[in-house]
Amino acid sequence: MTKPQTFLALNWKMNKTPSESVQWAEDLLGQLGDLNIKLAIMAPSVSLAGLSGVLGDSQVGLGAQDISQHDSGAYTGEVSAAMLKDLGVKYAVIGHSERREYHFESDAVVAAKAAQAIKNGIVPIVCVGEKLSEREAGEQVSYTLNQLRGSLAGVSIQSADDLVIAYEPVWAIGTGKTATAQDAEDMCAEIRGVLKELYPAFAKQIVVQYGGSVKPDNIQEICGKPNVNGALVGGASLQVAGVTGMVDALK
Ligand code: PGA
Repeated sequence: MTKPQTFLALNWKMNKTPSESVQWAEDLLGQLGDLNIKLAIMAPSVSLAGLSGVLGDSQVGLGAQDISQHDSGAYTGEVSAAMLKDLGVKYAVIGHSERREYHFESDAVVAAKAAQAIKNGIVPIVCVGEKLSEREAGEQVSYTLNQLRGSLAGVSIQSADDLVIAYEPVWAIGTGKTATAQDAEDMCAEIRGVLKELYPAFAKQIVVQYGGSVKPDNIQEICGKPNVNGALVGGASLQVAGVTGMVDALK
């Protein structure tokens, strides 16, 4: 069974102004050779229109960092999937731990957002992962798989390409602490076990990413594991050199 193509998603979080984003994307495109992986930028919503103009039909896809669970209407401050689709957005990070923590997003909200993305032809990158307290208590697997089931409740897909899962242990995000490649593999294998129950026809080909302090030095070992099909990268995605370094490491 061949692995799905490696997918590197760059999660900029709340960084770069729209004009900085455009300049950055032009620099990146100027330095990238032919890619053997899937690559996409998850940008703040105000930067998506400018990035869409630069990235166009290039090998670098465009993603958002969230979407509303609603179609349209009186939801001040929200951005709908239809609006993103209109800009050429192909992916959306859904249920990132920072949104779960600072915006109190429940598994039910995450599932509604994932379904809304799929309904509009946007691939949700659904994030799950335990905090340090669960890991120290040895409960990381049950916690993460529960969160996964809740975050996919009622979410149906028509092909393996409709959905991406990102395993991001919260204690490894932005801390410089990386799970070992084997920790990442163990949890991604558990996640794939749940995907086999939920989506038996597609589970083997659904991309499961690891996220948490991934950088050029460690990406190859992590993504080389059988059940890890890519990475969701924050800090190391902010510099063009970090991205070209990771792309080169995966060649
Ligand atoms: P990090 O962030 O690479 O800076 O740890 C990963 C993420 O939160 O997506």
